[in-house]
Amino acid sequence: MLTPEENKLVTEIGPDTPMGDLFRRFWVPVFHARELVDPDGAPARTRLLGEHIVGFRDTSGRLGILEAACPHRGVDLSYGVNEENGLRCGRCGWKFDVEGNILDMPYEPDAESLMKTIKAVTYGVQEWGGLIWAYMGPKEESPERPEFEWGQLPEDHRYISKFVQECNYLQGLEGGIDSSRISFLYDMLFGDPPTVETTADHLVQGIEGTRKKEKSQSVSIKTTDYGLMVAASIDEGQETNDWQVNQWMMPFYTTPKPEGDGLLGCLAWVPVDDKNTMVYVITYHPNRPMTEEELETRKAGGGNHPELNEGTYKRKRNKENGYMIERKTSGANPLATISNEFELALVLEESMGAIVDRTKEQLDPNDIAIMETRRILMKSAIDLREGTEPAAAHNGAAYNVRASSPVLKRDASIDQVEDKPIPERE
Ligand code: FES
Repeated sequence: MLTPEENKLVTEIGPDTPMGDLFRRFWVPVFHARELVDPDGAPARTRLLGEHIVGFRDTSGRLGILEAACPHRGVDLSYGVNEENGLRCGRCGWKFDVEGNILDMPYEPDAESLMKTIKAVTYGVQEWGGLIWAYMGPKEESPERPEFEWGQLPEDHRYISKFVQECNYLQGLEGGIDSSRISFLYDMLFGDPPTVETTADHLVQGIEGTRKKEKSQSVSIKTTDYGLMVAASIDEGQETNDWQVNQWMMPFYTTPKPEGDGLLGCLAWVPVDDKNTMVYVITYHPNRPMTEEELETRKAGGGNHPELNEGTYKRKRNKENGYMIERKTSGANPLATISNEFELALVLEESMGAIVDRTKEQLDPNDIAIMETRRILMKSAIDLREGTEPAAAHNGAAYNVRASSPVLKRDASIDQVEDKPIPERE
């Protein structure tokens, strides 16, 4: 449970808010690389951390990320023309280069002196790992890029999609580290519907697809340089326990559980504003290109890549259309049209409202990762206000970690769990 002030602190990410300032100390994904491919191509527009942003690739191939409002009269520069190494505003024709300098001011009698004094607001930009990244913090700070494993791989080893989740970033992020609930969601979809007796216990999906009563399931955490390691241990009374190890990485990344055939993933819960999130989903194989079948499945809405309305980042099954749910009165999967646990989790996170009231919640011990993530975020935001920069923003190498599913002796603790060692790449 949080106080109203804490809930505000941890969820509000606009300019000049403590959490907004913290997030602006990191490189953050702003566009998929395919949104800005061609020199002099159409500019791309988005909203990031509560600010309108325009991106363009100039004639020379350089990327520019600008505040969308033209410094002259505030017209949205994404309606402008990208030509000859600059983006020209559609209203009166001022033209800006990727660094915000004014190159041209048609019909302006005092152009020469104005061009020396006026600049568009620009942000740091780089392209890496199939994404375009922005840095919106103070120019004198220079954070390191988070060196995710998937970013270091050849392009054909990964698939990236993105979509909007209609709620605050923290709801999605907290769903991403809520390992103890994954098995229940899975059971909802592919097992028998819960009964009064069984819902009182934790449930786990057996390997053979049969539902079993679990003896216990517990979540433990370890503080790391990147954020938190989150480990859920499932004890079925055997000599060994199955573990699910995931990560929360500052400020808004989580790793989903590994998929079949060695596929791994990463989720970035990037705030659009306080009430919407752009979720970047990365699926990758560390050792080989993804197969045609793996790619086609995901392009069709499989795995952690929800189906979208064509030409948009809005999910096909969305809040507006009631997620196209057709309820069944009996049998498995009462929410029949939601076909996987990830998409169901998105729905349930949105069902809490745009910003859930955390003053009313009743957390239990298995919510320890959620509690600690909030605590670290809030402490980091307050520390920054008091002059301490977030260490993770200057430790890109720390992000080179994987989720894993180890089997460990029954008496093992999180101290025996290590972040999967990742081989060095050239
Ligand atoms: S509003 Fe952009 S040039 Fe006038």
